[in-house]
Amino acid sequence: MRIPALPAMGLALLLCAMNAGASDGPSLAKAQHVPHPAVIAHRGASFDAPESTRAAYLLARELGADYLELDLQRTRDNVLVVVHDDVLARTSDVAERFPERAKSPVSDFTLAELKSLDAGSWFNKAYPDRARESFGKLQILTLDEVIDIAEGNPERHPGLYIETKVPKQFPGIEKQLKEKLQARGWLDKPGRVILQTFDRNSLALLHQQMPQVPKILLLWIGKDSIEPKSGKDFADSAEQDKAAFYARQEPKDREEFLRWLDAAKAGGAIGTGPSAVRSNLGEQSYADLIKPWMNKASHERGLLVHVYTLDERVDFDRAMKAGVDGIFTNRAGELLRFYGRAQVPAEAQLLKALGY
Ligand code: G3P
Ligand code: CA
Repeated sequence: MRIPALPAMGLALLLCAMNAGASDGPSLAKAQHVPHPAVIAHRGASFDAPESTRAAYLLARELGADYLELDLQRTRDNVLVVVHDDVLARTSDVAERFPERAKSPVSDFTLAELKSLDAGSWFNKAYPDRARESFGKLQILTLDEVIDIAEGNPERHPGLYIETKVPKQFPGIEKQLKEKLQARGWLDKPGRVILQTFDRNSLALLHQQMPQVPKILLLWIGKDSIEPKSGKDFADSAEQDKAAFYARQEPKDREEFLRWLDAAKAGGAIGTGPSAVRSNLGEQSYADLIKPWMNKASHERGLLVHVYTLDERVDFDRAMKAGVDGIFTNRAGELLRFYGRAQVPAEAQLLKALGY
């Protein structure tokens, strides 16, 4: 491009403006073909339907989420499946079906065994106000099945936001994931897949396998991540309330936080996924890693910020004002409405239309 002759000061200002543009969230997102701000449906629309099930992902798709978030694990017979916890006890009837293996890892089960579990009734018991009889028939899903859901409506095109969960338990899962995404034609679609992990080794392997696919290094305070100022780990503290404990935690110092941003960048990530404190605390509330200076430091390094996991308007508002570029949420509908995205139908109406 030919730049017309400018006085020295004007040229300096122009160059400064061009540089600033390259490190703001919307420009960084655009360069990666990632929507801004991004609506990431955490384990699907998991506030209104059992997490990581067909109902949750169909609902997230129909609401208009940008991404279906999922946690990837592998069965004993080598099938990629979508389960958050290391064990199945919280989200299935494994204790009744396989009592001797109730505390065994997901990798101890064949796909047929996982498919025989009820992955929805736990939700009806935990959240009677959101319960539906049809949830009792939900199953654990394979990655292929979530891809089918993402591709299943020509008018809705959510991307996939895939986390390698406990990757040390699954050697070679990064390569296996690449082969699956390639076979399904998802590696030719810029910004349609984002890969995420807490594990720096897995980040390196993902980058090695899929250098062109955007990656996010997830951040929190604790073991194998950011060192806390308190020097304490929740597991070693005498605390009862996990969320209250984490709400008090902060990085050891500024340099420790910046060191993790630099590690993300060096590992090939295009952004970070920091934790946040929720205003009502609860199970998914962690340390606050979205302070404005933190988000600014990320942007200065060319890194996007996708915060996990917020569900309330007051928290969406605080996070956006602090400068994040997208939010993991269990309530994709609420976040879409908060952003003023067009015509978001009611969750109950959609679930009914979907047959639940
Ligand atoms: O993947 C972002 C967020 O999901 C990380 O937390 O434990 O819900 O997977 P978790
Ligand atoms: Ca996750």
